[in-house]
Amino acid sequence: MPILFKPLSIRSATLANRAVVAPMCQYAAVNGLAQPWHLMHYGSLMAGGVGMLVIEATGVEPIGRISPACLGLYDDACEAAFAQLVTTLKTFGDGLICVQLAHAGRKASTSLKTGTAYLPPAEGGWDLIAPSAIAFSDQWVAPQAASEEDLSRVESAFADAAIRAQRAGFDAIEVHSAHGYLLNQFLSPLANQRADHFGGSLENRMRFPLQVLQAVRAVWPQDKPLGFRISATDWKDGGFTPDEAVVYVKKVRELGYDFVCVSSGGMVPDAKIPGGEPGYQVALAERIKRETGILVRAVGMIANPTQAEEILEKGQADMIALGRGFLDDPHWVWHAAEALGVDMPYPFRYARAHPKLWPGARLARGGNS
Ligand SMILES: Cc1cc2nc3c(=O)[nH]c(=O)nc-3n(C[C@H](O)[C@H](O)[C@H](O)COP(=O)(O)O)c2cc1C
Repeated sequence: MPILFKPLSIRSATLANRAVVAPMCQYAAVNGLAQPWHLMHYGSLMAGGVGMLVIEATGVEPIGRISPACLGLYDDACEAAFAQLVTTLKTFGDGLICVQLAHAGRKASTSLKTGTAYLPPAEGGWDLIAPSAIAFSDQWVAPQAASEEDLSRVESAFADAAIRAQRAGFDAIEVHSAHGYLLNQFLSPLANQRADHFGGSLENRMRFPLQVLQAVRAVWPQDKPLGFRISATDWKDGGFTPDEAVVYVKKVRELGYDFVCVSSGGMVPDAKIPGGEPGYQVALAERIKRETGILVRAVGMIANPTQAEEILEKGQADMIALGRGFLDDPHWVWHAAEALGVDMPYPFRYARAHPKLWPGARLARGGNS
């Protein structure tokens, strides 16, 4: 059996296979609330048989959303919309449903007209907070340096959102500490130039993210998977480095986190990212796995089932996440099964109960029913 199709147990949950849908903003929410689009989009991915579905960056407070059309999990209405979404998604497949809890910090309030510029309050946006008053780019405004009160509010907002995620029926949480968003901003000297105990040394830069991660750990059930996402490098001199990422992941593992998704970049617009190469972040994932022992999810330009299987066989990662690959093909898992010679029945309930009668992946090669 290819490793991609070997189940993976994390705490009391089990992924039926190692293929994970990477979190991807849909910019389709209204006032933070999930809409029919989310049901259609995530529903098609669940029906495609994924091992885990990670729902897009979801703001823990309104000003933590990446854009006005991003999901939130900060009030009763958001929680109710998610509860309905999750309950319905669970009727479509066995995949674990994970939510990515996030705060965008200085990269919040993105204009949907351009996708790369700040939306001011007069046009429906909002003021920003971040570790230091340094703008993300010349298309953004300088944020307010967060006060101690801001930081304790954000920390509580992460914990409250985790409690809401539990009530809404999520199977797992992934805390977003990657891609230049708030927690990542604290880690990077390029965004964090604080003179207090949250800035300077690596120990100080990790302090706020670790407080948040600890607060989420404290309220999330012990039997459910808990993970986080990192940018293992800023790809920029003077920024966060892979050596620092190893130290950070070790600390988070000690807090009781089960998995990390190893991504990179997003801190500054002029980073030199070696894009274009398949699996360009896999070496970072491999190093984190080797040096920390935590379960690792690899991501980034992995779209081919053989490539995914090779990464797992070489022990470079434990799970494979695809973003654009799943947008291109919501039935990627089914097609991967076919490519790797695994029987995988059609997704509908009767076929799953009687896989010999309805061997979906094999029929995809040209048979008919
Ligand atoms: C449309 C889109 C939206 C994304 N939104 C998020 C997000 O909400 N959170 C996140 O951590 N990464 C986000 N990403 C990054 C993906 O999760 C993934 O890391 C990236 O696309 C690289 O994987 P790929 O080459 O398989 O697409 C997004 C990517 C795309 C294409």
